[in-house]
Amino acid sequence: MQTRCLIGGEWTDARAGGTLPVTNPATDAEVARVPSMGGSETFDAIGAAWNASAAWKSRPAADRARFVRRLSELMLRDADRLARLMTLEQGKPLAEARGEIAYAASFLDWAAEEGRRLGGEIIPASAPNKRILVLRQPIGVVAIITPWNFPAAMITRKLGPALAAGCTAVIKPAEETPLSALALGELAIEAGLPAGVVNIVTGPPAEIGETLLADARVRKLSFTGSTDVGRVLMRGASQHLLRLSMELGGHAPFIVFDDADLEHAVSAALACKFRNAGQTCICANRFLVQAGIYEDFLGRLAQAVGTLRVGDGLAEGTTVGPLINDEAVHKVEAHVEDAQSKGGTVMVGGRRVRLEGLADRFYAPTIIEGMTREMRLFREETFGPVAPVMAFEDEAQAIELANDSEFGLASYFFTKDASRLIRVAEALEYGIVGANDGAPSTAQAPFGGMKHSGFGREGGHFVMDEYTEVKYVSWGL
Ligand code: SIN
Repeated sequence: MQTRCLIGGEWTDARAGGTLPVTNPATDAEVARVPSMGGSETFDAIGAAWNASAAWKSRPAADRARFVRRLSELMLRDADRLARLMTLEQGKPLAEARGEIAYAASFLDWAAEEGRRLGGEIIPASAPNKRILVLRQPIGVVAIITPWNFPAAMITRKLGPALAAGCTAVIKPAEETPLSALALGELAIEAGLPAGVVNIVTGPPAEIGETLLADARVRKLSFTGSTDVGRVLMRGASQHLLRLSMELGGHAPFIVFDDADLEHAVSAALACKFRNAGQTCICANRFLVQAGIYEDFLGRLAQAVGTLRVGDGLAEGTTVGPLINDEAVHKVEAHVEDAQSKGGTVMVGGRRVRLEGLADRFYAPTIIEGMTREMRLFREETFGPVAPVMAFEDEAQAIELANDSEFGLASYFFTKDASRLIRVAEALEYGIVGANDGAPSTAQAPFGGMKHSGFGREGGHFVMDEYTEVKYVSWGL
């Protein structure tokens, strides 16, 4: 297990020798300690990325792509080891962790291909003695700040395109899950990436973040995390007018129309809501179900939720792991209590699950019936395994309820009516729409939000725009 940081190709401890514990959320056992770095080490990491930048960007795109693809292959080679490490530090079931490693590798693989196709343009000029050239050039040193819910995929989703475009990077993984990031750093070295192209610093976020934002050599920040932290980072980014990609909170509506294939809608709901114990930005947070099938859908959903198994992510058969920390459990409890105090009924779950020998951090998959607009569940991202449900009468009301949110990341709806399919997809104010699909994430599609869910797109060919500058050359003959 790698427990030191990567700066300029060297495995490095914090200057003052400080370390931070990484604990298993399922057991509270200390898994490892990692360096508690601050401003000076971050400054060094930026310097290393800056020094490596000129040589890296001048390599042919196909050459850079080979390194990125090799990193993807190494992740897949070590998938079992990486998945176990992820479950130890994050808690998600092992099968999900394996899925995340494959998902993470797919971003590298995709970006390697996109990097090879990153051409410019020649635009017809308006004068015979002129030519207009458009170049796409790497933006420079990129700061990558990532969350704990997807410790590998949220890094590679940014790192892959950054490297393929010719950028170098300083990565700051979440304090809760640095080990997956450091393991990725080891593989980056094995893949032959030159020293300084990928740097990783661990430690408390404030000082590292401030140093990244204050240094004019950093040209771009790509952040996935909460809307509140996103706002703070945006303010700091104004110092040097950093280019930003912000993948922030979500609060996805999940609409089921009378004419939906209910069996399909229920299995999509289960996957979409309870993946990672509901700790994903795109998971369904508000179930809106048309009155005609309300009871039927609820009954089927309750039955499906009954098949979920709460436990240690490393235990065979676990489908819902622990929440990441005590604060997360308190938030879920507060949302459920608030719903009950406002007339909501707990249909399934609604309590912690106490498991012998394990931490008190497991929450039962929960269905709350009778959600109203007044409830916190309707307004705030719960980030836990709670499915609140409310009935609606018609399409217009469903769209109005769905769009009644400051967030705009993912949304879902289920119908067999082809005209409604396009109508509703167009009306939803969300960056991602799962139309009869509860699992839209994939490397080749644009992922990102609107409103308070942020801006920028990761995935597809769109992501390359996030790491490149467009330069116009007016060429007089
Ligand atoms: C997230 O929680 O934002 C990531 C979810 C995904 O990539 O599917």
